[in-house]
Amino acid sequence: MEKYTPTTLSLNSGFSMPLVGFGTYNKLQVNDQVLIDAMKTAIDVGFRHLDAAWYYNNETDVGQAIKEKIEDKTVTREELFVTSKLWSNFMAPERVEEAVRISLKDLGLTYLDLYLVHWPTPTEDCPDDRSFSSPVHDNKTDYLDTWKAMEKLVEKGLVRSIGISNFNISQVERLLNMEGLKIKPSNHQIEIHPMFNNNDLIKYSQSNGMSVTAYCPLGGMSGNSGIVNNPTLEAVGKKYGKSAAQVALRWGIQRGYAVLTKSLREERIKHNFQLWDFELSGEDMEAVSSINSDNRLVVPNMFKGHRFCPF
Ligand SMILES: NC(=O)c1ccc[n+]([C@@H]2O[C@H](COP(=O)([O-])OP(=O)(O)OC[C@H]3O[C@@H](n4cnc5c(N)ncnc54)[C@H](OP(=O)(O)O)[C@@H]3O)[C@@H](O)[C@H]2O)c1
Repeated sequence: MEKYTPTTLSLNSGFSMPLVGFGTYNKLQVNDQVLIDAMKTAIDVGFRHLDAAWYYNNETDVGQAIKEKIEDKTVTREELFVTSKLWSNFMAPERVEEAVRISLKDLGLTYLDLYLVHWPTPTEDCPDDRSFSSPVHDNKTDYLDTWKAMEKLVEKGLVRSIGISNFNISQVERLLNMEGLKIKPSNHQIEIHPMFNNNDLIKYSQSNGMSVTAYCPLGGMSGNSGIVNNPTLEAVGKKYGKSAAQVALRWGIQRGYAVLTKSLREERIKHNFQLWDFELSGEDMEAVSSINSDNRLVVPNMFKGHRFCPF
């Protein structure tokens, strides 16, 4: 069987994004060294796409791992593709540059490869430890004005590409139709896994020139979403000598988008990158697709009632 060749996606900004990324969200609040070690392992095994965010409250640890791996010459900065995200409390246009500068300082970088508006929902300020669950919604700021400030970050060379996350179709459409739009989003990061295929949003985003990135491709933080031990995926995997998790990730990249996966365990980090020596047949792609139940896992309760709550 032929090896799957394209390992990057071309962005409309002219840059390329590796198809398989390492996520850094970590609700468990493990000690810093655990995340630093996991990230260093990820870079050692081949991950070059790293997904961070101000909200995850760990960008200094992500930055520490990057620094150590550049210093020991495993990678150069240019070989890495680093994403961060603008949290809701920084969406007032005059705060957007301040936010990216905080992330850059914490990550120890001079530029980001991709900067995303994390959610379309502006809020008032939140505590530094991000310990809020019911933020005050900011009803004055519009994400269209946030976007104009995002465009300026590209012009200033602080970020190479800009994009969005967790927008719904009509919100993407409204952004694309904004008067005076200078830079189209390069990427839309959204929840996608075999139990939540998100087909309409993928199609809409891609047909409008955006690359797509899947978060929670294995069903997310709970670890018991029913994907990594799904009998259908296990049966498909058996044919290729692969696990259900590898099948779920491979299904994603063969559908034409990037996948972000995260683990703090060395064996799983290696395992989740071993996706290049097999290709699912059309029939097996359909078998994986058949377990869809439109089961969305990430429900933004903190944005419930917000005028821009996407779903
Ligand atoms: N834009 C957004 O709003 C948004 C939302 C959510 C996530 N994200 C990003 O997307 C990244 C990926 O999402 P996620 O962390 O939910 O990813 P995920 O890979 O779907 O789920 C991670 C969970 O699966 C477990 N796991 C990982 N590999 C496994 C394997 N081979 N077999 C069995 N279990 C496995 C992990 O546990 P162990 O650590 O114990 O292995 C962890 O509990 C995040 O880290 C974050 O960077 C973005």
